[in-house]
Amino acid sequence: MIEAEWWEYDDMSELASAVAGDVAFIVESALEARNAALLALPGGSTPGPILSELAKAKLGWKRVTIIPTDERLVPLQSELSNVRALAKTFLPGGARVLPITTENADYRLAGNSADAVLQDLPWPPDLVWLGMGEDGHTASIFPGPDLQTALDAPKARRAVGVMPDPLPENAPVARVTLTRASILSARTLLITVTGDRKRQLLEQAIADGHSSKLPIGRVLAEAEQPIDIHWCP
Ligand code: 6PG
Repeated sequence: MIEAEWWEYDDMSELASAVAGDVAFIVESALEARNAALLALPGGSTPGPILSELAKAKLGWKRVTIIPTDERLVPLQSELSNVRALAKTFLPGGARVLPITTENADYRLAGNSADAVLQDLPWPPDLVWLGMGEDGHTASIFPGPDLQTALDAPKARRAVGVMPDPLPENAPVARVTLTRASILSARTLLITVTGDRKRQLLEQAIADGHSSKLPIGRVLAEAEQPIDIHWCP
C-alpha cells in the first residue's frame, strides 16, 4: 500500500517556497546527523523555480553533494543536460554537483559508468526528489525495452542505461537513471507535479500500484516510506 500525502498550492511560487523549505530542512537535518548531505534532484522544467529558491537558503552547501536522478546522454554543455542546470544553480553556493555521465556512445556502458560513480558515494541519499512526465515516466524510468531492467536491477545496482521508446519529444535521447531500488533506498522521497492531467495520472498510478502500466506506479508500488507529493495547477 503506497502511503502518499498530497500537498496542494495555489501556484508555483507558493509551491516553490514550501518545497524549498522542506528540502532545506532535510539538508539541515542530514548535516546535523552525518555532517554531509546527498540529494538526488530531478531534471525537466518543473523544478527550476523551486531549485532557485532552495539555492538561496543559507545552508552548509560545501558539505552537500548533488546528483541528478537521471541524465540525458548529451554533452555536459548541452541545454538538455540535467546536471548542467543543477550546476548552474548550486555551484555558486559551494555545493558539490556531480555529473554521472561522460559522453558515451553506448547507453548501457554509460549506465555502467554512472553506476560506478554512484558506488563511490555514501549511500543512501537523504532525498530522492522525482518529477513525472505525461507518459508516466519518472527519473528516466520510461516505457520501452529497458523498463524492466530499471525496475528489477539488483539492490546494489544504483544506475542503469535506458533507451526510452518512444523517445520523448522534448529530449529525444538515451538516458541513464537511478534504478527503482536506488530511488526507494532514499531516506526521504518527494514528488513535484503540476496540472490536472499529471495529477490524475499520478493518482491512478498510485491506486493501481504493481499493476500500473505507468513506470511511476511500478516504482512507487514498492516504496516502504511515506511519499510527499507537492502539486499546483
Ligand atoms: C528528465 C527527468 C524527468 C522529469 C519529467 C518531468 O530528465 O526528463 O528527470 O523524469 O522529471 O520528465 O519533466 P517536466 O518537469 O519538464 O514536466
